[in-house]
Amino acid sequence: MSGKAVIMDHPLIQHKLSILRDVSTGTREFRELVNEIAMLMIYDATRDLPLQEKEVQTPCGVAHCREIAGRKLAFVPILRAGLGMVEGALALVPSARVGHIGLYRDEKTLQPVEYYCKLPKDIDKRDVFVLDPMLATGGSAIDAITQIKKRAPHSVKFLCIIAAPEGLEALKKAHPDVDIFAAGLDDHLNENGYIVPGLGDAGDRIFGTK
Ligand code: PRP
Ligand code: URA
Repeated sequence: MSGKAVIMDHPLIQHKLSILRDVSTGTREFRELVNEIAMLMIYDATRDLPLQEKEVQTPCGVAHCREIAGRKLAFVPILRAGLGMVEGALALVPSARVGHIGLYRDEKTLQPVEYYCKLPKDIDKRDVFVLDPMLATGGSAIDAITQIKKRAPHSVKFLCIIAAPEGLEALKKAHPDVDIFAAGLDDHLNENGYIVPGLGDAGDRIFGTK
């Protein structure tokens, strides 16, 4: 089945994204906004989880309810900037497991360099949400998803806050079965591989390292 690409136009996401992009937004607020946007994105990206019927005894009778049909989720942030989205995602799905993939982009070649990978043991039974605020050339997301797929997860979705057209196309081509969710689709990459207008270096802004 071929995946979809969704640009999330919810007013709350768009409002928060406008503050996030602002060069004058400080580290503390930036971090809070990344988590809040991640939470709102997870809310929408989980809307296709299957439900099953359940009868619940209320104080006044029996309610015919629906509950999530035993699906297990895993969040996999791409280090380091993806870490900034984990708390927001877990706020909505506290029982999810969390894996980690460590990648950085070589500044010259823009190719991803992997330095860490630790995934939940039972990832083959889980729906995986890969988290990274930025999809620029797409190299990091493609590499991370390739690593995850080697462990045969039930499904993979990719969530980013800002995507560049170049990265979106590359990711769709490399992993056509993966649903992609972004809060914004920007204009282009500059000569250093940064998204324009983007928000700058997500990792540095989350962790205050520049
Ligand atoms: C950033 C970002 C992505 C990657 C996107 O990480 O968080 O992982 O770049 O670029 P790409 O689509 O061209 O691969 P970076 O390599 O700066 O590492 P960091 O999160 O450790 O700062
Ligand atoms: N990584 C970032 O943090 N920002 C970009 O614009 C591109 C890659």
